Amino acid sequence: MGSSRFRSSSRRSTQSETDHQLGFLIPRISRKYRSLSFDSGLRLIVSLSDNQSFESPTRLVMSSSVPNSDRKIVTGPAGYILEDVPHFTDDFPDHPTYPNPLQDNAAYSVVKQYFVDEDDTVPQKIVVHPDSPRGTHFRRAGPRQRVYFEPDDVLACIVTCGGLCPGLNTVIREIVCGLSYMYGVKRILGIDGGYRGFYAKNTIHLDLKTVNDIHRTGGTILGTSRGGHDTTKIVDSIQDRGINQVYIIGGDGSQKGAAAIFKEIRKRGLKVAVAGIPKTIDNDIPIIDRSFGFDTAVEEAQRAINAAHVEATSFENGIGLVKLMGRYSGFIAMYATLASRDVDCCLIPESPFFLEGPGGLFEFIDKRLKESGHMVIVIAEGAGQDLLAESMEESTTLKDASGNKLLQDIGLWISQRIKDHFAKKMTLTLKYIDPTYMIRAIPSNASDNVCCTLLAQSAVHGVMAGYNGFTVGLVNGRHTYIPFYRITEKQNKVVITDRMWARLLSSTNQPSFMKQDKIHSNQLVGEPGTMKW
Ligand code: F6P
Repeated sequence: MGSSRFRSSSRRSTQSETDHQLGFLIPRISRKYRSLSFDSGLRLIVSLSDNQSFESPTRLVMSSSVPNSDRKIVTGPAGYILEDVPHFTDDFPDHPTYPNPLQDNAAYSVVKQYFVDEDDTVPQKIVVHPDSPRGTHFRRAGPRQRVYFEPDDVLACIVTCGGLCPGLNTVIREIVCGLSYMYGVKRILGIDGGYRGFYAKNTIHLDLKTVNDIHRTGGTILGTSRGGHDTTKIVDSIQDRGINQVYIIGGDGSQKGAAAIFKEIRKRGLKVAVAGIPKTIDNDIPIIDRSFGFDTAVEEAQRAINAAHVEATSFENGIGLVKLMGRYSGFIAMYATLASRDVDCCLIPESPFFLEGPGGLFEFIDKRLKESGHMVIVIAEGAGQDLLAESMEESTTLKDASGNKLLQDIGLWISQRIKDHFAKKMTLTLKYIDPTYMIRAIPSNASDNVCCTLLAQSAVHGVMAGYNGFTVGLVNGRHTYIPFYRITEKQNKVVITDRMWARLLSSTNQPSFMKQDKIHSNQLVGEPGTMKW
């Protein structure tokens, strides 16, 4: 629902031009321009400080595999862009609305302004220059004055997909509590065992009683699985059961699945809302500040690092080596290292390293052992996979049911390589600790419980307010509704040319292991990761 103050591009148009890429264009002009505006065809008009102006030759959209017709871009003055999410009224302009029951809710009666202003949006980037364009924004989450469902008509379902993550049960619990307490919804189903549960299993009845204590345990009471996404069968099941609200808790693969379900629902003209709650312990979902469960993982990793430190300091030339999760992104390893102070070396997938020769890992281990007699190494599971692959006679390209490359155990491999290298030089004791599944199987900590609760409430508010086909996420500390495609088009990674990685290197005082010529190569320069501390 675009505000009247801003221009909204047509919602279901058939535009097919090849267009400029916003991220490419804005940095080039941002230092020189005086004002930015858009014409009704989404052409960018740039006025330069020397009184000249030009307009982009074609309509301005992001580049990605998502067609323009599936995007809802709203533009405003000074380069303001809202990447909006679909709304029930896009497809059903005459859909009935009802007053939000929260207006009679005792909890909300004390709030000065119960309902979120329709024009409230949240900027994606908060570090700006005086001459920066206003840039991309997302719709602010929260309750709206009118809702698009009557409580008695709602049949909601919740599904958890992919690997485990601390906080899954809290999100399930808080969706049930939010629907029940805030909106008076009584009929809520759990889908058993991930996407395939829609068509292969019976549903689970969820109410306030069944979810009361579930946040105290790890895992998911609904069960989960990888794969099993059959869009037609899933939407058939939604239609047959009369479900009209679908809450999908899952990682990027599952959110892509949610987008496919939403598309099919729209194609069939069903009045069904689909909302995603992003889940990844690796914190590899872009745009959002952090994903639930990440904080718990970093905290729990401390126990393994402490054990590694105790082992290392108790033996002559002791090394404690801890493997942490992080298939493509090293956030858990990086933050666990920064939190601990006992880690001497942190290795992540984004930062290439080598073992032998000057500047390599073996040289650093030798130096650190000589200096302090012990050391702790933290390695993310996706780090050094290139080295491991090189050393193997046969390369493997096996994938799991979610399409993720199956990784070799870098922890075991590197432990053996270190032992072999130092065998003839010194007495060395290396203890390898792999706490990965222990970390993700625990319940969420206090801070993640807050995060899960607010995400669940935001999802419920958005669905009740008629927003559809969105993911909820914290952006710069504010809850927002983000189009599915924005969180699935790429992964959030540690950018090793960013200040955060430099802070880690300064904290551990480890070498970067990078060859100088690579430091400023395109391969290593990317968008800063979305961790904002
Ligand atoms: O998807 C996130 C993740 O935590 C990865 O870091 C890890 O490799 C993977 O899950 C393992 O999950 P599973 O063994 O269940 O496939």
